Amino acid sequence: MVSMNPESYFPRNIKAALQHNPPGEWIPSVPANAIRLHSGYPAPHLVPSVELKDAVAQLLEVENDLPLHYIGSPSIDRLKEYVRARQEVRGMLAKDNELLITSGACQAIDLIARIFLDKDAVVVVESPTYMEALEIFWNYTDQIITVPIDKDGLQTEQLAELLAKRKQKGMRQPSFLYTIPTFHNPTGTTMTAKRRNHVLQLAEEYDFLVLEDDAYGELGFTSNPRTLKSMDTQERVLYVGSFSKVIAPGMRIGWVHASEKFIQALFWFKKDLEHPFAQATMATFLKKIDFSSRLQELSKAYQKKCYVMLSALKKHLPKDATWFVPDGGYFVWVKLPNLDTEKLLSKATEEGVSFLPGKYFFLDQEEGAEYLRLSFSYESEKDIEKGIEKLGYVIVSK
Ligand SMILES: Cc1ncc(COP(=O)(O)O)c(C=O)c1O
Repeated sequence: MVSMNPESYFPRNIKAALQHNPPGEWIPSVPANAIRLHSGYPAPHLVPSVELKDAVAQLLEVENDLPLHYIGSPSIDRLKEYVRARQEVRGMLAKDNELLITSGACQAIDLIARIFLDKDAVVVVESPTYMEALEIFWNYTDQIITVPIDKDGLQTEQLAELLAKRKQKGMRQPSFLYTIPTFHNPTGTTMTAKRRNHVLQLAEEYDFLVLEDDAYGELGFTSNPRTLKSMDTQERVLYVGSFSKVIAPGMRIGWVHASEKFIQALFWFKKDLEHPFAQATMATFLKKIDFSSRLQELSKAYQKKCYVMLSALKKHLPKDATWFVPDGGYFVWVKLPNLDTEKLLSKATEEGVSFLPGKYFFLDQEEGAEYLRLSFSYESEKDIEKGIEKLGYVIVSK
């Protein structure tokens, strides 16, 4: 009898993708009572669980079984209207056929990768970048190239050099640039207006698309910068938004705003992979709340938490530690010269505090050894202070 080898059934592209680290490998195992400075979750008290419970009750009361069918509820159209109005507030005018609701930003990124990438396609990402996006791109191509970030976001001069060199050598140019220009994950940096203009100029000159991931874009402490999409006159930007960081990640609701042809192709591959009940619930919830005041409340709360974290870092970290000061979002990116932050993590969790080692945010993981990402979004101000004190202790007693 011939024995069955499960691996032999995978085609070459899937075998190649399976060579990479498994998804979520970066999530540390953290004791239940540890202070969690690793997770990019919203603060528990800012997730509107009571209001969402009321929205579910109201939805079922008014629409009965409709939202529980495959495509049933009219509320889903209202959600799209709502997203369109929100885009407009931020200077992005979307026609009806230029928006697609997705299961979170992650599904949007995956669909975009699916329609633009083949195994030889080139993607440019920031270094460091959001690790789940890296994981997604790896499923489609190994041709991922990186451009470093500094305190002003993506270093567009370096991007320009890279593109010029590739042109000179007759190499394939990128299909798209993946960027998180505003309140970046993991660095917390924001791309300057000058660099935003430069990105769009380069996209035109070298004919590539831009995937703008704006998951944190409305969480500025004092203001939110203009999106690349709002500056784009050529329809080169595929904008990805999400309700995960401003409402609740478990609802899994995001969207893409892009030109009609792109939306049609994304829709083609999305099939039924979405959650009509969550979308109808979200529409009911949004109708009842004042979203702008909610954003103000979130910004104020996260700004305070961030301030507590930055003050604690100054107090408890060694003098040679450095970090970027964020203007919004969830994260502080710390550099600890001559330290391996992955090794530090097990000692930190024993001491009762967690963080994410920087290596997971880099294509070449060695580049991230001295960095770590701290999240101020999830824990209380008291625990942030306590957590950073513990971290400082672990660093100096290493
Ligand atoms: C930059 C960035 N994009 C996208 C996401 C995922 O968003 P969603 O929950 O909508 O899939 C995250 C979540 O951490 C993120 O940090």
